[in-house]
Amino acid sequence: VKKSDAVRQILGTRLDNTPRATGSAYAPANIALCKYWGKRDAELNLPQTSSLSISLGKRGATTELKIIEAPTDQIILNGKLLEASSGFSQRLLQFINLFRPRQNFCVAININSNIPIAAGLASSAAGFASITKALADLLDWKIHTSELSLLARLGSGSAARSVWDGFVEWHAGSRSDGMDSVAEPLLTIWPEFCLGLVILDETEKKISSRDAMQHTVATSPLYSDWPRQVALDLALIKDAITTKNFTLLGLTAEANASAMHATMQHAVPPINYSTASTTDTMKKVWNARAAGVEVYFTQDAGPNLKLLFLAGNTENITQLFPACEIIQPFC
Ligand code: PMV
Repeated sequence: VKKSDAVRQILGTRLDNTPRATGSAYAPANIALCKYWGKRDAELNLPQTSSLSISLGKRGATTELKIIEAPTDQIILNGKLLEASSGFSQRLLQFINLFRPRQNFCVAININSNIPIAAGLASSAAGFASITKALADLLDWKIHTSELSLLARLGSGSAARSVWDGFVEWHAGSRSDGMDSVAEPLLTIWPEFCLGLVILDETEKKISSRDAMQHTVATSPLYSDWPRQVALDLALIKDAITTKNFTLLGLTAEANASAMHATMQHAVPPINYSTASTTDTMKKVWNARAAGVEVYFTQDAGPNLKLLFLAGNTENITQLFPACEIIQPFC
């Protein structure tokens, strides 16, 4: 109910627009440098704290929507037709239903993602942001990107950030209707800034970020300190971006990810997304740094790591982490 109220508040009479034949859009994935972990409202995906991310340029998801003359919707993910009863289909259809209150059309939804799904690589962010933008195209909303951010948030919290490119801050906001919980881009362009995706495991995560967050907030004695930690880290990271202080950015982002995982490891029972290869790769990062190669890691709700480094170190990184896929968000 709260979600449909929010949609009505944002779209108003545009909710009654007649769909065109097709709509399509792309949105990048994003990796948080200062993490979102814990909600103050589970239905509206309102976070406990603000967060800050970098969008991944050409790595993300494209959604094509097509009106079909059929009794039910059709969902195709990376070329495979999904069962309507699958968890992913249900979540997606619930989201789409918010935007067709009278159930007056059926759609074929074709999503193509060039990042592994549900392996802690923020694929749901790219997915829900691209679906929101494709709906805006299909239903001709003529909408501002900030409003797209509010709507995408209703699908997946971190999707609020994927409607923008570059560095993006998602403001936690304080309103109970969430109208001030919106993402905004930072102005800094940093062409040398690189990420490396170290994919250690592509299988689907055992516990969703939604469930893991809720469990952490409810049971972890460390969680009470998390908002204070985020406030400090966020200020440092914003400052590091503005002054292009890569050392400050890397150290703070790595510490922030480790602090998030510490809150989970202290939940009862604990949640641990790392595998032995995650820990090995972390050690390789620390050894590389000790040997003078400036590289940091961050980790989300999965075993894979994302490396942070500057373009001048690309050759070193390829040598040390041969399987790593390099992304230059600003190029
Ligand atoms: O938006 P969700 O429910 O996929 O949660 C994302 C949580 C993290 O990726 C771990 C952190 C973040 O800020 O992206």
